[in-house]
Amino acid sequence: MNINIIPLQTHGDDRGNLVSLEETNNIPFSIKRVYYMYDTRNDTRRGFHAHKKLKQLVIALKGTCRFVLDDGKERVEVVLDNPAQGLLLDSLIWREMYDFSDDCVLVVLADSHYDENDYIRNYDDFLKLVSEL
Ligand code: TYD
Repeated sequence: MNINIIPLQTHGDDRGNLVSLEETNNIPFSIKRVYYMYDTRNDTRRGFHAHKKLKQLVIALKGTCRFVLDDGKERVEVVLDNPAQGLLLDSLIWREMYDFSDDCVLVVLADSHYDENDYIRNYDDFLKLVSEL
């Protein structure tokens, strides 16, 4: 499976670091929604879904967490621990998130508004859908 981690240019100087996110420039889609997760319990797993159409970019602004990404053929583990890297999540990728550090803040940029109809929340349904492609 192709894991797409986008390096985000950091404007750093002796005051600290700054990263800018611009649609169609360093973010490969138009940004319709931004959401973030914080204070996630470290004994919890989130996600457990895929999207029919939605594309997203996830950045660990602070702390670390692990992703399992699954395209129906292969499962890959990815650690997010760098605020200067964005993990691109394409449509039809099953994702689970776990091992959140106490300070973990994940920000997600999405190319559409929230739409429950775009979710595939049952893993068997997901496998069936990708096997029919
Ligand atoms: P949920 O899908 O359970 O999150 P996860 O992907 O981590 O399992 O979302 C949690 C709640 O937040 C759920 O009630 C739906 C709501 N929600 C929104 O209202 N807007 C959003 O953009 C997102 C991502 C979730």
